Amino acid sequence: MKATEAYAYYKTVFERVPKPFAFVDLDLLDRNIASIAQAAGSKKVRIASKSIRCADVMRRIQGSAPEVYQGIMCYTADEASLLAREGFDDLLLGYPQWQAERLGELIAHIEAGRSITFMVDCEEHVRQIERLAAERGVVVPLCLDIDMSADYPGLHFGVWRSPLSAWEQVRPVAERIMASPWLKLEGIMGYEAQVAGVGDNMPGKPLKNRIIRWLKKRSVSEVASRRREVVDGLVQLGAELRFVNAGGTGSLDSSRLEPCVTEITAGSGFYAPGLFDHYAAFRYEPAAAYAVEVVRRPRPDIVTCMGGGYTASGAVGAEKGAKVYLPEGLEQFPLEGAGEVQTPLRVKSGDQLAIGDPVFFRHAKAGELCERFMKLYAVSKGQIVAEYATYRGMGACFV
Ligand SMILES: Cc1ncc(COP(=O)(O)O)c(C=O)c1O
Repeated sequence: MKATEAYAYYKTVFERVPKPFAFVDLDLLDRNIASIAQAAGSKKVRIASKSIRCADVMRRIQGSAPEVYQGIMCYTADEASLLAREGFDDLLLGYPQWQAERLGELIAHIEAGRSITFMVDCEEHVRQIERLAAERGVVVPLCLDIDMSADYPGLHFGVWRSPLSAWEQVRPVAERIMASPWLKLEGIMGYEAQVAGVGDNMPGKPLKNRIIRWLKKRSVSEVASRRREVVDGLVQLGAELRFVNAGGTGSLDSSRLEPCVTEITAGSGFYAPGLFDHYAAFRYEPAAAYAVEVVRRPRPDIVTCMGGGYTASGAVGAEKGAKVYLPEGLEQFPLEGAGEVQTPLRVKSGDQLAIGDPVFFRHAKAGELCERFMKLYAVSKGQIVAEYATYRGMGACFV
């Protein structure tokens, strides 16, 4: 659909919906679900729930291709508990969790038959979980987080998370887990953030794009050999791994080529927020957006909307701001941006937008949008077909 048609389409669909509101276009979401399944090749896909934050959307993804979409990568213990209560299974905690009470609740779910795997990267994490597992007499599955960042002179290309980069560092933690009667080493996870989370097709930055693509290419083969080395080492130790998890939306094309990888995590690609417009290897459909209302016109060529300023997390930069989406051709003012209460926009012609009209924006990141809205209107073929509660709408707020 062309942008002019898309604006008219959404304006008509949402004519009676009070602004501001957020929505998910199910027709575009379904295209993204199919494209991601295809991009994963023969690997399974684990949904990164932090990038969705809506149980109904995750159900739709899993229901559409259950043979591909298996399991959720959760982001906190409380969130995993919520998903377990909602009936989701095969939950992998993507990040180490510490608080005993929260872990205890999850261990109770494991006792009741749920598959929940905790993330660890040091003996301290292992001891904490072992103590709680022994107290309750339950065997708890663990996953080792393997650092996949790359260090070049003057540049740490990747994230600072796990201290386990090389097999010599992984080995003692793995042995510690395997020696415990209360723990089971179920898998490893390595997130190559420098490949998956860094756009390499940014508009107006040809040189930076070239450098990033070169760094990524180099990184991809280093990541593959590090992961292989760890998997081989663990197999030699006698570990029986249920999964080897890799990557994210931005690395589907490289992670799927690693023979030892069994599953790839993906979340952002389903909504395809603003930051995911700038990858050379793929382009998904903008399936989620939000609308604010034009409430005043300070000058004939400027309209000002109520609200709209939902900024994304991470290193602070202009790319983390809300991206004005529809109608086409609106420009934000760099000195004001999208505001807490007021968002001015330069319009092409004064009569393009009237007071009361919607302006649609996209968030820079995926799931964070759902922290701003209680529900997502689900749209398909010109109709609002459902209202999906977001985590916030379920009364849940994690991080
Ligand atoms: C551990 C981990 N795996 C995978 C991902 C990829 O998620 P997405 O597909 O939403 O980019 C992330 C994102 O930050 C992550 O932290």
